Amino acid sequence: MCGIVGYIGRKSAQNIILSGLNKLEYRGYDSAGIAVKCGEEIIERKFKGRLSVLEGFLCDNPVHGNIGIGHTRWATHGAPSDENAHPHSSTDYSISVVHNGIIENYVQIKEELTSLGYVFRSQTDTEVAAHLIHHYYEGDLLDAFIKAVGKLKGAYALVAISEKEEKIVCVRKDSPLIIGLGENESFVASDIPAVLEYTRDVYLMDDNVFAELTHDGVSLCDENKHPVQNEVYHVTWDAQDATKGGYEHFMLKEIFEQPTSVRNTLRGRLDKIGDKVTLDDFRLTKEDFNKISKVYIVACGTAYYAGCIGKYLIEKYARKTVETDVASEFRYKDPIIDENTLFIAISQSGETADTLAGLRYAKKMGAKVLSITNVVGSSVARESENVLYTWAGPEIAVASTKAFSTQIIAMYLLAIKFGLYSGNLSEEKADELIDSIYMLDKNIETVLGKIGEIEGIAHMFESIKDAFFIGRGVDHYLSMEGSLKMKEISYIHAEAYQAGELKHGPIALLEEGSVVVCTLTYGGELCDKVMSNLKEVKARGAKVVLIAEEGNEDNDGVSDVIISLPKAHEDMNILPAAVVLQLLAYYSAVNRGCDVDKPRNLAKSVTVE
Ligand code: G6P
Repeated sequence: MCGIVGYIGRKSAQNIILSGLNKLEYRGYDSAGIAVKCGEEIIERKFKGRLSVLEGFLCDNPVHGNIGIGHTRWATHGAPSDENAHPHSSTDYSISVVHNGIIENYVQIKEELTSLGYVFRSQTDTEVAAHLIHHYYEGDLLDAFIKAVGKLKGAYALVAISEKEEKIVCVRKDSPLIIGLGENESFVASDIPAVLEYTRDVYLMDDNVFAELTHDGVSLCDENKHPVQNEVYHVTWDAQDATKGGYEHFMLKEIFEQPTSVRNTLRGRLDKIGDKVTLDDFRLTKEDFNKISKVYIVACGTAYYAGCIGKYLIEKYARKTVETDVASEFRYKDPIIDENTLFIAISQSGETADTLAGLRYAKKMGAKVLSITNVVGSSVARESENVLYTWAGPEIAVASTKAFSTQIIAMYLLAIKFGLYSGNLSEEKADELIDSIYMLDKNIETVLGKIGEIEGIAHMFESIKDAFFIGRGVDHYLSMEGSLKMKEISYIHAEAYQAGELKHGPIALLEEGSVVVCTLTYGGELCDKVMSNLKEVKARGAKVVLIAEEGNEDNDGVSDVIISLPKAHEDMNILPAAVVLQLLAYYSAVNRGCDVDKPRNLAKSVTVE
């Protein structure tokens, strides 16, 4: 949700912080700011708008110093404005802080501080932290910081500097924070890409551990200042993975990375001999699984739709009941969950607050927990007894693409594993699935080869207000994801319906020129039924874009355009169809002049509930 960078060393803090914030802009981009210790004072500069506004100002008016903190914001408390942008400072600018998360008891703390004479400049929850640290400051920043943090309730990654000391202090609770360990320099950041240009050695911070970064290095302690040890995590992926690499947008780059990401997710995990599906960090035995009465999959956004597709696959191949829910709803509806439930959390970032809260709730109720995530050491991963990493590499564009495909791969892996555990999937059928899963990367490449065709078709969306996405069975879940992609990046109002449900209401919305996108990844009887639904649509004057497997394409002339998917084994056109939907949304957004990688009002990682 917000991006944090801090630097202490010998170089220009401003330059390093700006370059780090650039890598974190996916976390929020409605305002940005920096505070640098210049001699005996802190200079704070912050502006509403994209990071480029701050960069432009600092280019003409640089701040000189080699200790500093910076922030790129996604507003929660207080609208985007210069005043609400971080850093926030004490009244005398002697203490400056940046924060990601929400301080739940800020109103109460603000009242207390106001009665002590503190004057607030912003509407944010964060500002209380700056004044609190100032209030407790008696010559030692870490002492004051620990005391102040002791008063806070909520989620935070909090970083502070003082004009009087050559150090940075920080802590996290339920919000991501890493520390970069360089030579004669140290960094703090919300995510690894911000520091990767300078170091590959990082601490993945644990909750409630305090860090003090000085010119001599980094020390960690608990709230009683007892030393704490942390393993150094060596980053093996390349900084290039987190840059655009010649593509116009991160989203397009990430769409094109999907064949590689899929291969990476599968690497070493699927084999026709032995156990067939090998998963590390996975402790759930056949006996455990067969005691389970229900699987619950919980996630947000695109990850939720991956979960819906998982429901389809696991129910089909393992014959186990699977419920799905969006994480913001799950824990508030008194879900039926106990020690015989397997709870699966899906989260690209592993930091989504609702998903994490759902996971904690499920654990408290005694459920077995498995998380599917892309980020090693993320909160979701750390709190799960079983973890399946998706190995998609860093995903920067807000709209999730390669993370989604690798989450679907994880779902295939689980469906086969659970199918074999439950005895509902024969060895032969499992082998067939394995062979066809290994063809997925090639089939995705085939679809990527249609980029020119899809770019042309996207012109149909250039000036429409509404789009409809329909499908039946698993294709309905794909339609939901297709519709989400379209609305989040192109701002076209898009709705998804089960193709057979249209006639029960939504069809009233169709008129001459409406566009209906239909996904059809299978043949057979249901395919004929979808064709009948398309005739109903066509009769209302709508234009039909059909995404269908070769051989199942329209032969009654009901489609205006057809994008064909390669012939594939049963259930294996889910991913190629998803890629078509991603490209359609991408080019629709580009044609409409939208900011594809940073859609309005959205953030990549939503670490507030
Ligand atoms: C945000 C993003 C979505 C993403 C969702 C869940 O809303 O904009 O693209 O699908 O969070 O994120 P997660 O990291 O938990 O998969």
